[in-house]
Amino acid sequence: ATERTFSIIKPDATRRNLTGKINAKFEEAGLRIVAQKRLWMTREQAETFYGVHRERGFFNDLVAFMTSGPVVVQVLEGENAVARNREIMGATNPANAEPGTIRKEFAESIEANSVHGSDSPENAATEIAYFFAGTDLVG
Ligand code: CMP
Repeated sequence: ATERTFSIIKPDATRRNLTGKINAKFEEAGLRIVAQKRLWMTREQAETFYGVHRERGFFNDLVAFMTSGPVVVQVLEGENAVARNREIMGATNPANAEPGTIRKEFAESIEANSVHGSDSPENAATEIAYFFAGTDLVG
């Protein structure tokens, strides 16, 4: 079914001017960018967005990293978009990512791993609503 997922191009990737190369990966895989904006997350936004990880040892570093520079938040649409995007991104740790994936080609480390993508359709809906109004999405 046609589905939407939420994506973030992270500060390590915007710093290296990789937005276009990463977007090309999405588009070549058949995903359509139906909303997109560049912003600099506040500490509060990053803490809330990653709230599920609050008890993890990497939480403070994660929040510091995600607020270290601009990000591009986006909504990707396509057939099975959540799972498709996770294939295109590759494993969280670039050391474990398949050849041709975004993280294999571009990620610097498990933290500076260039992209975030929703892990379920339910979380996609929550994450999209956190950054976008319904009227921002143009399919
Ligand atoms: P992301 O999909 O954005 O969701 C949580 C992020 O935490 C994850 O990608 C990683 O970039 C980051 N992270 C940092 N350290 C770790 C770790 N040890 N295990 C899992 N995720 C980590």
